[in-house]
Formats: sequence, C-alpha cells, structure tokens
Amino acid sequence: MLSDEILMHQSQAETSRNAATEQNRRTLASEIADSPQRAAPLTIRSLSKLMRSGQRVSCLTCYDATTARWLEQAGIEVLLVGDTAGEMVLGFSSTVHTPLDFLITLTAGVKRGAPNTLVMADMPFLSYQADDAEGVRNAGRFMTEGNADLVKVEVDRSFVPLVARMSRAGIPVVAHIGSRPQLSKQQGGYSAAGKSCIDAVALLDDARALVDAGAQMLLVEATPAEVAEQLVRESSVPVIGCGAGPACHGQVVVLQDLLGLTAWQPAFALPAIDFGPQLLAAARGWMQRVRTNDLGPHPYTMTDVQRDAFAAAVAVRRSDSTGSGGTT
Ligand code: KIV
Repeated sequence: MLSDEILMHQSQAETSRNAATEQNRRTLASEIADSPQRAAPLTIRSLSKLMRSGQRVSCLTCYDATTARWLEQAGIEVLLVGDTAGEMVLGFSSTVHTPLDFLITLTAGVKRGAPNTLVMADMPFLSYQADDAEGVRNAGRFMTEGNADLVKVEVDRSFVPLVARMSRAGIPVVAHIGSRPQLSKQQGGYSAAGKSCIDAVALLDDARALVDAGAQMLLVEATPAEVAEQLVRESSVPVIGCGAGPACHGQVVVLQDLLGLTAWQPAFALPAIDFGPQLLAAARGWMQRVRTNDLGPHPYTMTDVQRDAFAAAVAVRRSDSTGSGGTT
C-alpha cells in the first residue's frame, strides 16, 4: 500500500515537473527568438564607432563558456575575463592571487562561448609589472592561447613604455586607470581615485599619456563623476567606467554582483536579481528529489534481446559463483 502511494506521488511529481520544464523551455525559446542575434563578430573598430555614435556599451565580467553564451545571447557587447576570477571563481580574498595560466584558460573558454562578442582579458598581478618584454609576451599569450580581442592592464603613466611596446607588437591595449585593485595591498585596501584636484588632474594626465602611447580604450574605476566626465571630454578613445558615473561610453560591473551572488556589492553594482536564493531553492529541490528517488524518466534502455541475454548471463554468473564455493 505504502509503495503504491510512493509510486503515485512519484508519477504526479514527474508529470508536474515535466509540465513546468516544458513551460520554461517554451518561455525561453520565445525569449531567445526575440533577442537580437549578432550576425558578425564585434570588432574594436565597430565598438569604437558604436560608442562614438552615443550608444552606451555594456560590459560584464565573465569567467566561463556557458555563461558567456547566455551573455552573448543577451546582446552584451564586451565580456571582461577579469582578474576578479581569482576572487569569484577561486575564492581568494584579493585579485593579486589570480594565476596567469588560469586566466588565459578562462579567456579561451569565454571566447568559445561568445565568439561574436568582444572579449577583454585582464592581465593579472606581476604578469606585466616586472619586465616589459615579459609583459608583451604574456599579453601575446592572451591573444594567441586565449583568443582575446583586447588586453587590459592596470597602469599609470609610468607604464607608457610597456603600453607603447605592446601596441607596437599589435596588441589592442585597454589602460585601466583610477582605482587599481592590484595595488590594494600596498594601499591598505580599496579606495576611490581622483577625489582631490591634484589626483584628478594626475588621472587625466595618465590617460593622455597612455592613449598617446597606443592604448585603444580606457577603463576608469571608482572616480567622482565629474572627473570621468572630463576624461571622456578629453579622450580620443572609448572610456568604460566601473563606478565612474554616467558620462562614460560604457559601463562594467562584476557579474556575480549583478546576480546578487556576492555577500556585498558596491553602490554602483546593485543586484538586478536575487539569484542566490534561487540557487539555494534549486539545490534543495535536487536534494529532495535524490532522497525520494524522484529522478525523472530514465534515458537508457536495453532491447528485449539484450535484456534476455543479460538475464541469462547473470544466471550463469550466479551458478558459477555457487559452483566455485561462493554464497548464493
Ligand atoms: O577584474 C575585474 O573584474 C575588473 C573590473 C572590476 C573592472 O577589472
């Protein structure tokens, strides 16, 4: 009696789960049909044109191919394989721990997932600061092994020789200025940049020198809005802001912040959805299904012929093991 009830409960659960899955699939299919498909890969030239035409460009961090595929489907123009992968994927407390080879591997995965999206690779701590030649080679690895479209370095004007050398080698450089998280240990934490007049003017001078050296894009992090506004006014290349206010040509935030998966988010990167509780619910639902053996239809079957042959083979094994002194 009890097993009948369990069976009935399982089949009802299966029917409603299949209906819900089908409904989800239909909703998703229509959303995908409605969403814009990029016909050709976005290039740095088309992106610059877009930005100069006044269209704001969206950038999100991304560290894997599956997510990249969805973000490309959404129409996001730039995916940043940030050194924040060290925090978001590996659980380090700071980006200074992010390994170079790991980031190159992630970059290649993101590009495979989003072949028509511009992928910006972030050069991690000490992959370019110690020696310019090493910096150029490592940047090259992001392009050849990682298939990156742009390579980002956290810099000020003291890195002009490196940027010039990278640029001469054919590497599309993004100069990340303003707040530079790779300096956070030295500075005793994260802080905004350009809050004093002297610092703001220094930031503008850094930008000018780096663009003159060949940087094709600027990324400015954590500055007062009026400083970024002046930067955009003076800049001949697109400016992506990360907590730098609305004047920038584009904006970037960490995807996990946007999804509400992080314990804390900066004020400029408030969550768009509360994905954490949804993830919890999915995990708990899976636990419940495992505990009640509610696994859905089983996809693998045997033909009648194979099943009969298998039964015969099992019978032989049983008699063999009985004959050789095994237990029945
Ligand atoms: O690594 C990163 O995610 C970044 C952005 C926050 C700008 O550099």
